Amino acid sequence: MYFLRNMSQSGNFKVFITRPDMPENGVTMLKKQCNVIAWKAPLPIPRADLLKSVSGMNAIFVSMKDRIDKDVLDAAGTDLKVIATISVGYDHIDVAECKKRGIKVGHTPGVLTDATAELTLALLLSTSRRLPEAQLAAKTGGWANWSLTWMTGPGLTGTTVGIVGFGRIGQAVAKRIKSFNTSQILYFNRSDRPEAKEIGAIKVTFDELLVKSDFVICCVSLDPSTKEMFNKCAFEKMKKTAIFINTSRGGTVDQDALIEALQNSTIRAAGLDVTTPEPLPLDNPLFKLKNCVVLPHIGSATIEATNTMAELTAKNILAALNGTEMPAELK
Ligand code: DGY
Repeated sequence: MYFLRNMSQSGNFKVFITRPDMPENGVTMLKKQCNVIAWKAPLPIPRADLLKSVSGMNAIFVSMKDRIDKDVLDAAGTDLKVIATISVGYDHIDVAECKKRGIKVGHTPGVLTDATAELTLALLLSTSRRLPEAQLAAKTGGWANWSLTWMTGPGLTGTTVGIVGFGRIGQAVAKRIKSFNTSQILYFNRSDRPEAKEIGAIKVTFDELLVKSDFVICCVSLDPSTKEMFNKCAFEKMKKTAIFINTSRGGTVDQDALIEALQNSTIRAAGLDVTTPEPLPLDNPLFKLKNCVVLPHIGSATIEATNTMAELTAKNILAALNGTEMPAELK
C-alpha cells in the first residue's frame, strides 16, 4: 500500500487510478473535482493491492489489464458509482454484476477506431510482405544473398479480404483496404450492418468467409459467443495461402490451434497484435515462427488516440459522479 500516490486532496469525490501512467490530460481533469489516488508500482497492480486500494472509492479508472469482478466491487463498497475503462473492449469487466449493483460502466468507443484500423493495415502488410523478417535479414547480412524471389509475399490487389466483426473498427479497416484494389470484401457479423452497402462489403456466413478469403481479419469483440471462434476447425477451412490478422482480443483464438496451423502450413501466416496471455512469454512458440508477426497490443497506441481515450474516461467518471449523462456508458 506504500506504493499509492495521493495526487490531490482537494476534491469531494474519491477516484482510484490503477496505473501511474494514465495520460496526464485525463488525470488533470479529474483532479479539478476529485481526490485522485493513483497506483504507482509495481505494474500491473497486484490483485491484493487492487482490492485494498479501491476500498471506499467513488470511481475506479481502469485499463484492460485490470480484472474487475465481484471481489473488486465488494472490496470497493457501496460508495462506488462508476468503473471507467480506458479501452473500447470491456471483456475484463463483469458488466452484468456492475449493473446489478447500480454501478455505471464507461468505455472509450470511437476515439481509437482510426488508430486501430491503421495498425491493422500495418500489421497485415508487415505479415504479408514479411517486413520484420526482411529487416532482420538486412541487419544480419542476409541482404548479400538478394535475389528476385527473395522475401516475396502475396499482394493485396485482386484478393478477397474477409473481416470478422463489422463494427466501427471492422468498417474502418474495410474502407482502408478498398484502396488496395481488392476484388471483394466479405464480412461476418451477427447482425446486418447497413453501412456495408456503401463500403461495398458483402455479408456471408463465417464458414464462407473462411473458405473464400485470402486475408482473414479478426475485429470482433470478445464475449462468450466469440471465444476461440478461430479454432482448429476454422483454420482448416481457410485457404492454405491465407493470412490471419488479429487486432481484437487474444481470447478469440485457440492459440494452440493457431500455432499448429502455422507450423503445419495449414495457413500461410499470421499477424497478431493480441495474444493469450499478454505479455506473451518469451519462450512462446509464436515468437519462434518466421510466419508470425507478434506486436505487443499497440492497436490504439497513437498519441492522439491515447490522449482522447484518457479524456473520455475522465469525462465518463465526472458525468457519473455528477449525475449527468455519461458520454460513453455501457448500457
Ligand atoms: C481497447 O481499447 O480495447 C484496446 O484493445 C486497448 O488499447
